[in-house]
Amino acid sequence: MRILVIGGGGREHALVWKIGGSPLLRSRADLMCVPGNAGIEDHASCLPAPARGLTDVAALADLAVKERIDLTVVGPEAPLMSGLVDELTRRGLAVFGASRAAARLEGSKVFAKEFMQRHGIPTAPFEVFSSCRDTLDWLGSTERSFPIVVKADGLAAGKGVVVAPDRASAQEAARAILEEKRFGAAGERIVIEECLTGAEISFFALTDGESATPLASCQDHKRLGDGDTGPNTGGMGALSPSTDLDPDMERRIMERVIQPAIAGMAEEGSPYRGVLYAGLMLTERGPMVLEYNARFGDPEAQVLMPRLESDLVPLLVAASDAGGRMRDIAGRIRWRPEWAACVVLASAGYPGSPETGRMIRGLEMAAKVPQTEVFHAGTRRERDGSLRDRIVTAGGRVLAVTSLGRDLGEALNRAYAGVECLSFEGMQFRRDIGGAALSRLAARPEPLLGHTPREREG
Ligand code: AMP
Ligand code: GLY
Repeated sequence: MRILVIGGGGREHALVWKIGGSPLLRSRADLMCVPGNAGIEDHASCLPAPARGLTDVAALADLAVKERIDLTVVGPEAPLMSGLVDELTRRGLAVFGASRAAARLEGSKVFAKEFMQRHGIPTAPFEVFSSCRDTLDWLGSTERSFPIVVKADGLAAGKGVVVAPDRASAQEAARAILEEKRFGAAGERIVIEECLTGAEISFFALTDGESATPLASCQDHKRLGDGDTGPNTGGMGALSPSTDLDPDMERRIMERVIQPAIAGMAEEGSPYRGVLYAGLMLTERGPMVLEYNARFGDPEAQVLMPRLESDLVPLLVAASDAGGRMRDIAGRIRWRPEWAACVVLASAGYPGSPETGRMIRGLEMAAKVPQTEVFHAGTRRERDGSLRDRIVTAGGRVLAVTSLGRDLGEALNRAYAGVECLSFEGMQFRRDIGGAALSRLAARPEPLLGHTPREREG
């Protein structure tokens, strides 16, 4: 079987690493990635992105035809929303990912909120605005309470959401989006919604458009700084399993959030296939949807893939447009009992304007830490004139150090031992990944999912 993965971040490195181990591939030559990165090159043939980028769906589909690809796996949101899945399907090629119409669940927050309202899916009460004047008037009413959340409708690279502590900052956020057009066309409309409190988790389900099966639970760390401070990022670290999810809650989420979304999309004529990612707040009123995404999370994929014992490829095929067989496979997904922890190393300036081109040291040493994978995100191989290439930073998030352990403490110790080996100028990372989860485990009378908590050493 020949597989093409689209994307070049940490999520795609984790996917390529896992797919590369599948017995369904005869050799490394059967796995390709566009554009990949310096780490992905170890497992797949990497080809440059089309000149117009990963939204040039015709060029990507031409490549899949030319390379006789049996399954294309789409990592990031941009090619999904540009219709890559539709284009490949039109040409009779199998693809894992959501169609353009299905990907609106991620691409438009207005669509997602109104969809949830139509189908009775729990989410924060909200209003939609396109006029700045109307927004400011509405926010000015004495009936409003703060904090309140202001969201740009379209894709804004994770920067389009402001949790506004008071009226003035909510009005400022609305002005920045609707009047100053900070996010361009992605900010033609805004959603304003109630601020929810509770534990935030990332929930993933594979679906063929009819039936769905959940993946292992996991948790992201969205803020840049220790103690959940600083700006929101794409994610600075992740854990699996989540310490906030038990089998009963998983069932409720499947029943109230995942199944109604899949049934609703099918009913509205845009069947949803691939992976459905719900960002959830576990509130006192039950699980509520913060957002849907049409792809695997990053860095959530980096903790899910090492824990997945089953072959990923049959799962991707079952959830692809060639599938319709999710139901047969669902009960047979096997997960390792170990915990996984991931620490992201980011460039100076991330998430604003990251500095790039800095040499990365210590990759060989980090690779020796037991049960540890250093997934590459923004990295590039550079010829420096000597016999050996060097690997330099090429993006905001650079590396995602992921380790398995018999308990969360061991996984974290190993991941941070990997981090100790690595350095580049301006490197920033969180020192408290998993800290809150360890405290929760220590305070819990009953061990969760059979794992016994152990303090992180050192
Ligand atoms: P989103 O892109 O919609 O997931 O928003 C980014 C982040 O903003 C989320 O991960 C949450 O931490 C936060 N957030 C979004 N919506 C809400 C809400 N209604 N209440 C509280 N926090 C929120
Ligand atoms: N880690 C959050 C995301 O992938 O959107």
